[in-house]
Amino acid sequence: MFKRKDILVDSLGRKHNYLRISLTERCSFRCTYCMPERGVQLSPKSNLMNAGELYQIAKVFVDNGVDKIRLTGGEPLVRKDFTEILKKLSTLKVKLSITTNAFTADRFIDDFKTYGLNDINASLDTLQNDKFWRITRRNQFQKVYANILLLIKEGFNLKLNVVLIKGFNDNEIVDFIIMTKDLPITVRFIEFMPFDGNEWSKEKLVSQKEILEKAIRYFGKKRLFTLENEDNFTARNYKIEGFKGEFGIISTVTNPFCDGCNRLRLTANGKIKNCLFSNKETDLLSVLRKNESLEAHILEAVYKKKAIRAGMDNFKKLNNPKLHNNNRSMITIGG
Ligand code: 5AD
Ligand code: SF4
Repeated sequence: MFKRKDILVDSLGRKHNYLRISLTERCSFRCTYCMPERGVQLSPKSNLMNAGELYQIAKVFVDNGVDKIRLTGGEPLVRKDFTEILKKLSTLKVKLSITTNAFTADRFIDDFKTYGLNDINASLDTLQNDKFWRITRRNQFQKVYANILLLIKEGFNLKLNVVLIKGFNDNEIVDFIIMTKDLPITVRFIEFMPFDGNEWSKEKLVSQKEILEKAIRYFGKKRLFTLENEDNFTARNYKIEGFKGEFGIISTVTNPFCDGCNRLRLTANGKIKNCLFSNKETDLLSVLRKNESLEAHILEAVYKKKAIRAGMDNFKKLNNPKLHNNNRSMITIGG
């Protein structure tokens, strides 16, 4: 039916050149929006891709047109064989990036440089010590903040992910934008998304409009510039006049960007998810272990991708806990 080169094109013609690989379901932190309080059932180690399997699966994607891979988790840097994985992936013709909580990033600076990983997204939801503990359940603000400054100093292209939760950190929006005055980073405000066990409610959302209103009130309308959307964008980007950095808004919930979606996800246990919100998965690792070809399975997973948020195409559906509680928690999907 399809030519081999087309396996990453879905029924709507979207071409998937970006693969996000989760290396582990574990994390050094316990962010409330990411992990249910009761914890998650971890896959047994034998069900996870080992470094060689991960490389083999990634290679099939790259051979078929993926040119960007992001390593996610849980927290990717807790994988004992992280450096080995990075080294193997660096032999593929692909741009490598990572999303990390930055807690141990200082130990990996040489590896990142050696293996050409330059794009780092670091998660930081607050600039206040006590709130950092409340969200992550770990008392590590100083360490994480110092590591973020170190990564910037070392010349990495850094984006800061800030998940906004109404009444918790929406009063820090201006403080985060002020960080971009002297630091050449992009701060990305992310709408809180519903996942299993994370006590999401639409009242906790902070809208794009509210963020921009806060920015305008503080910096003035004349100083706020809207930047051009990038291809396959997830964030709508802005800049304050004269500032070194930028800020963006990722509104997955209120204003999704599914039309231009070029992303596929591979979970740590080797399953493809064609959408963050999809609870249907295609098990590639079992296929690989049976020594069978992955292509037909990838094609099927890609072709089944729905137009918008795995079929949750309106707010009412997204608001229905029955629809999103069958999905995994974010910690086992990878941010
Ligand atoms: N809503 C929005 N973003 C989330 N992340 C995790 N859980 C959620 C959620 N419920 C994202 C954060 C973090 C990355 C690892 O995953 O941006 O930086
Ligand atoms: Fe860990 Fe990131 Fe999830 Fe927090 S959001 S628990 S740092 S994976």
